[in-house]
Amino acid sequence: MNCETIKKKVRGEIGKKILFYQNTGSTNTLVLGLADSSAEGLVIIADSQNKGKGRLGRTWWSPPEKNIYMSILLKPHIEHSEVTLITLMSAVACTTAIRKTTGLNATIKWPNDLIVSDKKIGGILTELKLKDKRITHAVVGIGINVNSGRTQLPEDIRETATSIKIEKGSAVSRERLISATLNEIDRWYAILKNGGKHILLEEWQGLSSTLGKKVTVVIGNRTLFGAAESVDGEGRLILRLASGKVEKIHSGDLTVLR
Ligand code: BTN
Repeated sequence: MNCETIKKKVRGEIGKKILFYQNTGSTNTLVLGLADSSAEGLVIIADSQNKGKGRLGRTWWSPPEKNIYMSILLKPHIEHSEVTLITLMSAVACTTAIRKTTGLNATIKWPNDLIVSDKKIGGILTELKLKDKRITHAVVGIGINVNSGRTQLPEDIRETATSIKIEKGSAVSRERLISATLNEIDRWYAILKNGGKHILLEEWQGLSSTLGKKVTVVIGNRTLFGAAESVDGEGRLILRLASGKVEKIHSGDLTVLR
């Protein structure tokens, strides 16, 4: 990974300071540890992780030299109830960067999965630090499968995951995709902070491959079936159940039914 190339191409506040690690447990854990003493916009990028964290307590496959593992420190002035917007904002930024850099038709599966050809190409894990129920820090962790080949994917995700190289048929520059992603986060975070929540939500809806589909959502030990209708002003999924009842969901594990 050529760190100088990334630094040269990053334009805004997000990524003004970037730290690179050859290997670490988890870039999210590192940023959480530095959150109090660091300015908003700090980015940590690792070439590999040995304790990569996924959502819902899962592990994130993080082999060296192939993919993107990075975490960004934000200090948003938002209510706890609006934190899903940070994840949606990051998903819009990543999807846009993938589209611009690779030409692939990346979409978003609510709330945070980056999808190409119906398979997962990346994901976002947002972790929070709270004080008196207010958010002091949000750490946005981004993992994107870039140059891993099909046979390199672990067997348990080979059917459901993909990479940019698999989809495009050729390797792409991680540096280009990282800088494009950081520049898109800079742009969309500014829009969100400047009252542009509805612009963001509209963009998210346009990039989503979830809305209008029949889905199941697992929330703890509950499984809901219904139609994914829209997202509301807090980024909650509006799910219409067969009974006609509407559920508003902050977080869950969603599967699109075929
Ligand atoms: C998901 O489950 O879809 C979210 C995956 C997030 C993975 C990234 S890789 C960089 C950052 N550090 C971590 O430990 N996790 C996130």
